[in-house]
Amino acid sequence: MINTHKLTLLALALWLITIAVLTWFFVYGKTRAGTDGRTAIVLKSTERNLILAEMRTFLSSTQGILDGANQGNRDLVFQAASASAMPETDDEKLVLMAKLPMDFKMLGMSVRSDMAAIAAAAKSTTPTPEILQMTANTLTKCVACHATWQLQSNP
Ligand code: HEC
Repeated sequence: MINTHKLTLLALALWLITIAVLTWFFVYGKTRAGTDGRTAIVLKSTERNLILAEMRTFLSSTQGILDGANQGNRDLVFQAASASAMPETDDEKLVLMAKLPMDFKMLGMSVRSDMAAIAAAAKSTTPTPEILQMTANTLTKCVACHATWQLQSNP
């Protein structure tokens, strides 16, 4: 005779273990010691390419914000900042998110929300020096993240 009580406990235990493992990955990501003293996040090469492409968008946004502020062209500031404000989410990105450590995710999101704030400021009456200060503050996050993390890929 099947002992349903034990089976239920077993199912519950397996379920809890699964949640624990998923939580572990969500918080710590998939990392190892990097080649230069930083911590490496280990991704598939397509995932690494995806993040690097987003990084290049971050850089061109920064360039556009500075260029726009310098020319007094607030539309350009708005366009440039908006390009980095919202990520496109799809299934591949959700899997990728699980491999990224929590600190990395938080810092990345915080840059995106800064970019959204810069875009909003460009549409409002915020003076240009203040927009430049917001941009400078955001760049400290780029610097902090780059000082800490490396991206490596497994084929
Ligand atoms: C959450 C962490 C994080 C933040 C925030 C971040 N980066 Fe990066 N970025 C990385 C990592 C990790 C790499 C890969 C570094 C390596 O492997 O040596 C990278 C690489 C890059 C690259 C190289 C892209 C390529 O094609 O090789 C550029 C450019 C770049 N980042 C620009 C920026 C700019 C500009 C900002 C801020 C507006 C920024 N990043 C914010 C983590 C971050």
